[in-house]
Amino acid sequence: MTYELNSPLTTHLINTLRDSKTDALRFRQNIKTLSLLLIDKALQEDALKERSMFTWQGKFNFQQFDQSNLLFVTVMRAGLPMLEALMDLFPDAQAGFLAIKRDETTHKSKLYYDRVPDCRGKHLILVDPMVATGGSMIDAIELLKYRAPDKITSLNVIGSPEGLKRIEELYPELDIYIAQVDERLNDNKYIIPGLGDAGDRQYNTPE
Ligand code: PRP
Ligand code: URA
Repeated sequence: MTYELNSPLTTHLINTLRDSKTDALRFRQNIKTLSLLLIDKALQEDALKERSMFTWQGKFNFQQFDQSNLLFVTVMRAGLPMLEALMDLFPDAQAGFLAIKRDETTHKSKLYYDRVPDCRGKHLILVDPMVATGGSMIDAIELLKYRAPDKITSLNVIGSPEGLKRIEELYPELDIYIAQVDERLNDNKYIIPGLGDAGDRQYNTPE
């Protein structure tokens, strides 16, 4: 199931990303803010756990997320700021890294690096700002689903209807939280209107 945030604040932040004048620092900051909005929605169904703590009034039990249950897996490079925002929010969660790069001629994705810890029993949250053809996300899920996480959730900023449909058909049980679904892909498999290459925009590497 795909859940789109599509709020006025999300639209404002995304349209700032679309502006070519937005520099790398502001771009990464907006991606981080959007990641916080996405994780808030994505964790709506996750149960809080009772934790004993000392407060100014003495010892009490209060509810919090069990961070040891959370595993954030980023698709490098564009997913790195999303991971950073989420690890700042949940510093005791675990992080995993996949490096996947789309070939700009064939548009096929290729895995270069896989450093994901034990997934068993975890709520695995996959983060990548862009879903274009869906190829990178499919590669990631194919790799991760055999590692027996309790659940896989995906957080994305912008997607194409084509890529999302492909993923929904392959993984009907997957929950995708996305800030905005754009119009379509162009002939080069870029999202329209989109924001260009998210990795290049975040790390000052224009093609
Ligand atoms: C971007 C993006 C996704 C992928 C989406 O990464 O971060 O991983 O493209 O495209 P797809 O849905 O067609 O697979 P890219 O391959 O450009 O690498 P980068 O993060 O290093 O820029
Ligand atoms: N990757 C991006 O960063 N942007 C697109 O529009 C498509 C793939």
